[in-house]
Amino acid sequence: MLNEIDAKDELGPVSIVILSDLHIGRNARALDLSPSECANGVIDNRFRNNFIDFIQNESISADYLMIAGDLTDSADPFEVELATEIVLEFMEVLNVSEERTIIVPGNHDRNWALMKFGDHEFWNSLTYAPFKLPGSLYDRLQVNSKGDLLDKPYFAVWESEKLIVVGYNSSQHCGPEEAVNYGILIDDDFREIKKLFEIADWPENALKIFLIHHHPKKYDYPVQFPLDFSDLQGVENLLIALHDYKFDFIVHGHVHQPRFSIDFGEITWPIGILSSGSFSIQLPFDWNGAINNQFHLLNVEGRMPDSGYAKGNLYSWRYTTHRRWEPSEKQHDGIPHLEPFGLYMQHNDLKLKFRDLLLKLKAGIVDLDEEDIIKSFPDIKYLRRSKFIEILQELELELGYSLHNKYNNGTLILLKGSD
Ligand SMILES: [Fe+2]
Repeated sequence: MLNEIDAKDELGPVSIVILSDLHIGRNARALDLSPSECANGVIDNRFRNNFIDFIQNESISADYLMIAGDLTDSADPFEVELATEIVLEFMEVLNVSEERTIIVPGNHDRNWALMKFGDHEFWNSLTYAPFKLPGSLYDRLQVNSKGDLLDKPYFAVWESEKLIVVGYNSSQHCGPEEAVNYGILIDDDFREIKKLFEIADWPENALKIFLIHHHPKKYDYPVQFPLDFSDLQGVENLLIALHDYKFDFIVHGHVHQPRFSIDFGEITWPIGILSSGSFSIQLPFDWNGAINNQFHLLNVEGRMPDSGYAKGNLYSWRYTTHRRWEPSEKQHDGIPHLEPFGLYMQHNDLKLKFRDLLLKLKAGIVDLDEEDIIKSFPDIKYLRRSKFIEILQELELELGYSLHNKYNNGTLILLKGSD
C-alpha cells in the first residue's frame, strides 16, 4: 500500500474530510441518526440527506475520510449496524474508498450496559462485540491498517500514498469502575508506539497524523461546570515523541467543541491540533450560541519550501436546525470557517516584516487590499487570519491607513489616510 515517495519529492495536495462524535443512537440530534426514537425528542429527520445535499451542492470531495471516535452512542448492535450504513453512504458521496477511510473508537463505542451482566473480564471480552461482527465498519476497515485498535497494543497504522496515520484507542484502558471516561495512553502501549516511530521507514515528506479520541490538551467549556476531567492521560511523552518524529497534525474528538491550535512543544516542530467537535450529537442547550455541530475539510497543499511545515487551509462548517450547513464562525463555533496553516513567525518578527512590506507598498498613501500584500509576500496565505488582522491593526496608526472588513470574512482593505 505504501507508495514510493522519494524523500526529495514534494508532498503535493492531500485532502481529508474529518468527522467526530456522531453518537448514532439515542443522543444524536436527528431521528434518521437513531435506530429507535431519540430520547431527547428531536424532530429533525433529514440530517443525513441535508449533509449529502450540502456535500453535493458545494462539490466537496476528499482523498480521505477520518472519524475520531464515538461513532455510536452506546455500542448497541443496532447502532453499529446503522452507523455502518451511514458511514458507507457518506463515503460514497465523498467518493472515498474503504482503503482511505480511517476510524478510531471512542468511549461511547464500548458497550457499558454489558457490565451489569458479569465481571470486568466478561465485560472486557464483549464490550466491542458488535464492532467485530463480519460486515460491520471496523471489520471492513481494519484490514487496511497494520495493527488492530481493539487488540494489544491498541494502535494501528495506515500507510497510503502521501499520508501516514497512526491511530490509538484511548478508551481501552478506562474501565467501568471509573467515574469519568477519561482517555489514557498507557506506558506499555506507548513503548510499542515509540518502537514503531524508531523503525518506521516512512517517506520523509509524507503527511503524518496522529488520530485519537480523547483530547491531548485542556479546553474551557462555554459553561464551566460540570468540570471536565476526561482529557487524555499520559500525554506529555506522547507530545514529545510526536514533535520529535515531526507529526504534522493531531486530530481528536471527545470534547465536542471545535478548536484549531498550533503546538510548538519546546519550540521544535509545529503540530496542528484539531479538536473536531461533534458532527451530530444533541449538544447541551446551555451551549446554544457558543458551539454547534461541525465537520471539517483539511486541505494540505504541500510543504513550505524552507521550513518543511505542512501548508494549506482548514475549512469548517456548522449545522443549525434552521439554516442547516453553513460556514462556521469563531465566535459561535470556537473555530472560524477558514484557518490557514504553515507560516509561523514570532509576533515581533512578523510585525517588522509587515512594516517593511507595507512601507514599500505605500500603505497610508495609496489604497491597498490584501491581494496587493499577498502578491508581495505569497506565504502570507498560510498565516492565521487572526494574526494577519492583529498585525495590520497594530500598524494602522503608525502607517496612517484605515483597516476595513476586519470583522467579517471579506477581503481586508487598507484605505489611505486623509490628506
Ligand atoms: Fe462524544
